[in-house]
Amino acid sequence: MRKIIVTGAARGIGYAAAMAFIKKGSFVFFNCRKVSPELEKMCNELNSKAKCSETAVFDITREDEVTSFVKTLENGTIDVLVLNAGIIRDNLLPSVSNSDWVSVMNTNFWSNVNFYKSLYENHKLSENCKIISLGSISGVRPREGQGPYAVSKSMLISWTRNMAAKNGSDIFYCVSPGPVATDLIKTAPWYNRPEAFERIPQRRFADPDEIAELITMLATENLPIASGSNIVIDGGITLTTKGS
Ligand SMILES: NC(=O)c1ccc[n+]([C@@H]2O[C@H](COP(=O)([O-])OP(=O)(O)OC[C@H]3O[C@@H](n4cnc5c(N)ncnc54)[C@H](OP(=O)(O)O)[C@@H]3O)[C@@H](O)[C@H]2O)c1
Repeated sequence: MRKIIVTGAARGIGYAAAMAFIKKGSFVFFNCRKVSPELEKMCNELNSKAKCSETAVFDITREDEVTSFVKTLENGTIDVLVLNAGIIRDNLLPSVSNSDWVSVMNTNFWSNVNFYKSLYENHKLSENCKIISLGSISGVRPREGQGPYAVSKSMLISWTRNMAAKNGSDIFYCVSPGPVATDLIKTAPWYNRPEAFERIPQRRFADPDEIAELITMLATENLPIASGSNIVIDGGITLTTKGS
């Protein structure tokens, strides 16, 4: 049974990816900051026939919590790592507060990278492990107002490509969605406004399950030649001149 860790799996894309991996017969560690009663109930149900899930309770920005979790794993057992946890603080770049810069860069870039580093240095990853990071079209094509979020996602995409360039057997991908209907964007002023859909050739936001489908596909297919790819999945937004 393949073992998968998804960071930020309490909700949204991470949760959808975790569930999709379980449907495909894998064992999943759902990383979350705290276990909600809903998540606990779901894991109990999933485990009722055969154990296929476990909550991994730690804040990825807390090195001590990450270290404690990593110690619990057997060596060489993680086959797929999904670096998904992320936050957003929209603002114009010159107006971003120092604390927002620190929170966003720390969560979206440094903590995900540090989690990989901790697993790698402690020999927890299997040979030919697949590492899939969640980028964003904001990291590909700048859009005014996305502040440190866009910068953090560019860095994660660049990290993925640089990691793939090193000589090794691990395979790195980045998945860069356009707008996905999750809590992350629900507070944006443009959420569900007609003009938000006008800039998307598909005229809708993606469903988290669609992003999960791509993540599990990349994790399942044997395509080492594609290591380092950043796959944009955005309903065509970045193909148009209307938006990013
Ligand atoms: N939705 C979009 O339109 C979109 C587009 C492009 C890329 N993405 C990227 O996709 C990823 C998932 O986004 P989403 O839309 O699913 O967002 P979401 O619904 O807001 O979920 C974010 C998840 O990350 C977790 N998280 C945040 N900080 C964490 C920390 N310090 N430690 C552990 N977990 C933490 C959250 O946990 P809590 O429940 O504890 O807060 C939550 O489970 C993010 O990297 C995001 O940037 C999203």
